[in-house]
Amino acid sequence: MATYRNGTPLLDADGSVVHCHGAGVLLHDGWYYLFGEDRRGDNRVSCYRSKDLVSWEFRNTVLTLAAKTARHYVRTDLHLAGRGLRHDGLPEVGPRGANIERPKVLYCEKTGKFVMWMHFENGRDYNAARCAVAVCDTVDGDYTYLGSFNPVGNMSRDCTLFKDDDGTAYFISSSRDNADMIIYRLSDDYLSVDEQVKTLWPGQYREAPVLFKRGGRYFMLTSECTGWNPNQGGYAVARSIDGRWSSIRPFGGPTTFNTQPTAVAEAGGSLLYIGDRWDPSDYFNSRIIILPLSFPDEDVCEVEWADEVDISPEGVKTSSQEKALVRIMLHDKTNYVASDGYNVFAGRLGYANKSLLWRREDADGGFVLRHAESGRCLSGDGIMAEYSADEPRLVWRADAFEKSGLLINQYSGKSFMVFGRRVVLADPDERFGGYRLVTDY
Ligand code: GAL
Repeated sequence: MATYRNGTPLLDADGSVVHCHGAGVLLHDGWYYLFGEDRRGDNRVSCYRSKDLVSWEFRNTVLTLAAKTARHYVRTDLHLAGRGLRHDGLPEVGPRGANIERPKVLYCEKTGKFVMWMHFENGRDYNAARCAVAVCDTVDGDYTYLGSFNPVGNMSRDCTLFKDDDGTAYFISSSRDNADMIIYRLSDDYLSVDEQVKTLWPGQYREAPVLFKRGGRYFMLTSECTGWNPNQGGYAVARSIDGRWSSIRPFGGPTTFNTQPTAVAEAGGSLLYIGDRWDPSDYFNSRIIILPLSFPDEDVCEVEWADEVDISPEGVKTSSQEKALVRIMLHDKTNYVASDGYNVFAGRLGYANKSLLWRREDADGGFVLRHAESGRCLSGDGIMAEYSADEPRLVWRADAFEKSGLLINQYSGKSFMVFGRRVVLADPDERFGGYRLVTDY
């Protein structure tokens, strides 16, 4: 049995952090192969393998800027992709190379080759919005880069691959500046797009797609578009991949337990959700979260938080302790209420950033928010104070406000407002604000 404690760094057999984000999982010859983003130096895609999804062995950096290229597509330039003019028209200082995200790999029975699809950007901005393809004779060898392109002329950013039971493969990616999610059927060698077969949820701005099949149903997980900040995940279901899909239903909590979908893998008779817990303030501090999926009905997919996941061939077990810590996420979804113990300010999400952590305690008809580090409490004057049982300045209540909430001070009647990175207190009817209390999973 292998036990994974969610939220801790995933380590390989040498005790090194697994650098593999936006990853995909391929089951091959009894091994799970994990392919993901590796942003160190000239590395682009790394590959690890495991028997249980918990203990990982590093295999190879399967795509680097120095990858061998073959010209299946016209644009095969990886290393020099960053060279050119900057936004301000000045020359770029040295090439930085392509930015490769969300690599996924499938095995093609027909050709006996492993085929990788990924999101390609030039390393300076996100305007190229292309997909790219690489291929290899062995699962974890050095992949040959075949070039990048816009599928059927479309923009293509967050992406995934899916192989159906009959061997037909599909590439799925966010298009039209992420407004639409498009499904493409691939050619039988998996190297090209055969046809655009479906445009999903036009105008609904989804990304981070993951497609899997269970009991004759196709399920697609996606996220909203808030960069590396977490948001409410969603799933949809269909009986045929290019047929009618359901509308998007909520998946996980308001921040999908601080994750964004990247893969689903089957182990111990369960389907397991694999999500990235990005750390936007320190990418290399990002984590990988593994949670079992459940299906209370054939068309319904659910996920619950678990501190620990035990995976064995006999089954998957979870265990959790109740958590009391919350983060106060402001309405703009990028800022959180932070404190140094004396002042209150808007902090950026960072999982190691303890200044964002609060403990919610019931008090006098409402609750106080005690700063986890300093032990001082948030007052209605926007400063921090020592707690005393009958101190009305420290007592808050929560009010519903559109899709988020208002945190109203019982004493001053003031509520949070956020201007960029500043948090100020104002009358609630000014309603620029809004927040969510996000349990710190
Ligand atoms: C996310 C996306 C990630 C990465 C990130 C960059 O929305 O899902 O793969 O592109 O933005 O900010």
